Amino acid sequence: MATPQTSILGTGIIGLSTAYFLSAAPTTPPSSIHLIEPSPILFASASGFAGGFLASNWVASECEELGKLSFRLHKELAEKEGGMGAWGYERSRGVSYSAGRGWKGKGKNERGEDWLKQEGSRGDVVGVSEVFGDGPAWLERSDGDSMEVIGEEGTLAQIDPLRLCKFLLQACLSRGVQLHHPARALSVGKDMHDELSSIRILNTSTNAVSEIPCTRLLISAGAWSPQVFSTLFPNSNLKLAISSLAGHSLVVRSPRWGKEQEGKGCHAVFTTDEAGYSPEIFSRIGGEIYIAGLNSVSLPLPELATESRIDESSIAKLKMTAERLLGEEDLEVVRKGLCFRPVTKRGTLILARIDERLGSVGTRGTREGGVFIAAGHGPWGIALSLGTGKVMSEMIEGKETSADVRKLGL
Ligand SMILES: Cc1cc2nc3c(=O)[nH]c(=O)nc-3n(C[C@H](O)[C@H](O)[C@H](O)COP(=O)(O)OP(=O)(O)OC[C@H]3O[C@@H](n4cnc5c(N)ncnc54)[C@H](O)[C@@H]3O)c2cc1C
Ligand SMILES: *[C@@H]1O[C@H](CO)[C@@H](O)[C@H](O)[C@H]1NC(C)=O
Repeated sequence: MATPQTSILGTGIIGLSTAYFLSAAPTTPPSSIHLIEPSPILFASASGFAGGFLASNWVASECEELGKLSFRLHKELAEKEGGMGAWGYERSRGVSYSAGRGWKGKGKNERGEDWLKQEGSRGDVVGVSEVFGDGPAWLERSDGDSMEVIGEEGTLAQIDPLRLCKFLLQACLSRGVQLHHPARALSVGKDMHDELSSIRILNTSTNAVSEIPCTRLLISAGAWSPQVFSTLFPNSNLKLAISSLAGHSLVVRSPRWGKEQEGKGCHAVFTTDEAGYSPEIFSRIGGEIYIAGLNSVSLPLPELATESRIDESSIAKLKMTAERLLGEEDLEVVRKGLCFRPVTKRGTLILARIDERLGSVGTRGTREGGVFIAAGHGPWGIALSLGTGKVMSEMIEGKETSADVRKLGL
């Protein structure tokens, strides 16, 4: 039997996590795995610009097992590979914060973490109501404000997702996984049984077209997944119901968050703002404070991740919120960001083998062939990344999956 050849489309955290676990499977030689990525700059997408907040049980019930598995894998990987130094892995505490007197926030019954529930994907946030003693040192207090702890001890953590992506890619490459970058998948080819056997890719720096063997294909192109699917399988009647939710973000530094404070752990603060949105602010190892929460369904998805255009007024709004919450003037801005979450209408991600839906393309049997999709992680792609990678590598290998993901099919 010939070795199955795997192509993974998209090197966001989902594609990379899958390549990482699949290349560790004894039955899949790393050199038979091909990562294909069209963006001229790697990690220019959601995985590079996300906050990196991890929660074990804040996701919808359909992905409860996946959430627990993924949280455990994040912890294990960080312990095994020095993740605290390499990608800032650290435990975190969640805080729901409402400003006190003189503050014209939104309705007083509205809580900062509410949008996570409304959006569906983060599911019901577990609220532990408890007076919070000494919250984050970097958060400016005012009279009459209130803080509640949300989430149980040991179920929240923080990472820098960009550095985790870099680690995963490096680990894959050193095992022998092949990276085609920048390259775009043009079409798939079939063998004499009409079964998937190759993929044609365009080298976008030279415009040269080449063909690589491919019997197993994973679409993990985030918000771009529907276009990728319909380009490769034009005769399929499947329309992948994945769209994008744009989000601006800002990373700043504060004199009250540095080496000395880091030993006490990170914080995730959820609140509401006068400007009518729900900021989320995370302290991260390395003296960084990350702020996001300004989201837009109307900002269109650019063709390439590098073509997104930051709206400076959104950045100014985030900066004002940060300055108010941190009680600092003229905060040092480390970087600005705009990226696109892949979201589904139903609110949960899609993890599936979709061979029945390809139109005129067949596939080889279990383990030897197959077309798979792992996309639509919404606001939880970093938290669910390693679990997704593990489960998809098992699905591709035709094994029983480590978490029950049957409710995440098409
Ligand atoms: C502002 C913001 C903050 C966030 N904070 C958090 C957080 O704190 N915790 C959390 O868990 N999640 C968070 N998320 C969500 C998380 O970022 C996403 O769910 C996750 O990054 C999705 O990963 P992905 O690999 O599916 O997609 P992406 O990271 O978008 O990667 C997709 C890749 O596919 C590539 N691609 C595009 N077209 C093609 C093609 N034709 N062929 C092949 N590849 C292609 C893209 O260039 C890209 O590299 C946040 C998201 C945003 C926007
Ligand atoms: C594109 O072609 C150039 C020149 O042959 C080569 O150096 C590069 O590695 C190729 N890139 C991809 C993604 O194949």
